[in-house]
Amino acid sequence: MIRSVIRGTGSALPAHCVSNAELAERVDTSDDWIVERTGIRQRYIADESETTSTLATAAARAALAAAGVDPSEIGLIILATATPDHTFPASATQVQAALGCGGGVAFDVQAVCSGFLYALATADSLLRTGMAKKALVIGAETFSRILDWEDRTTCVLFGDGAGAVVLEAQDVDEDGPGILASRLHAEGAHKDMLFVDGGPSTTGTVGKLRMKGREVFRHAVVNLADVLGEVLVETGMTADDIDWVVPHQANARILDATARKLGLPPEKVVVTVDQHANTSAASVPLALDTAVRDGRIKAGDLVMFEAMGGGFTWGASLARM
Ligand code: ACO
Repeated sequence: MIRSVIRGTGSALPAHCVSNAELAERVDTSDDWIVERTGIRQRYIADESETTSTLATAAARAALAAAGVDPSEIGLIILATATPDHTFPASATQVQAALGCGGGVAFDVQAVCSGFLYALATADSLLRTGMAKKALVIGAETFSRILDWEDRTTCVLFGDGAGAVVLEAQDVDEDGPGILASRLHAEGAHKDMLFVDGGPSTTGTVGKLRMKGREVFRHAVVNLADVLGEVLVETGMTADDIDWVVPHQANARILDATARKLGLPPEKVVVTVDQHANTSAASVPLALDTAVRDGRIKAGDLVMFEAMGGGFTWGASLARM
């Protein structure tokens, strides 16, 4: 059977790291409050020379190097982002140009924090139809540019960064590697709980992020547990079969609550929110790359990816590495 196999991972972070203590010098907050409520200890913030597409390109190069794949072999680039360099063209096309691999397919996907899950499922579908043989799937964000730095209830939660995977369509056995199943959902009725109050067709400005944190938290735990259950049912697996969960890194308490609901031991959950904060679409591939490079995630491991974000949108994918 043809499956999309993860050949390599990569990530990139801005040069400047901002600790909670540093943030507390300009925002009415404290290290204690942020750590206790979210688990976040620091985040990386892009400077003027660092954009979504430059971070995405750096992550893509790292993933290509890890996979041993030349950019010229890439026929499909899907970049998940809510903070593109420009309203158009898609930042994926800028990555394509920077990598020098023109001629294939390149486009952005916008599903906010679930963007990487949407991009991964889309790339998997296109690879299995034969549209391309090898793909780059990237999550990259510069959320610092859409934060209201006067709003302490949101600005402390997010950071910038990028993560990428190289996918290849391979003919594999039933118990071979690759993406086994993905499930995606959206429920647009909840827009007002998490949105940006600007845009090209409304205010004509970029706008700032607005969030009702408590309501988002409540929906996240329920929706994530549900979608993880759906993927397990579809693949005939149980929570015990899973080696690692690589979740969207929004808040340590959401990660704990979701794992508890599924009966998953916390040791199986990859947590990077303390280091990176919430990097939206970048958080899942950033966490994956971290756990691959430090040797936790190995070939043959069964890994569950999951995310929920603005829209609301949410989804999960199960892959064998
Ligand atoms: N520093 C200090 N105090 C703060 C801060 C801050 N940065 N922010 C809020 N407070 C205060 C509030 O003013 C409030 O004070 P009051 O009691 O005097 O009125 C108090 O802390 C409690 O505020 P709450 O908003 O009720 O705090 P809560 O425990 O709900 O935690 C949080 C807020 C961390 C945002 C939580 O609701 C959360 O994590 N929600 C999930 C949202 C999220 O992660 N979204 C990411 C995008 S979606 C996704 O990725 C799933």
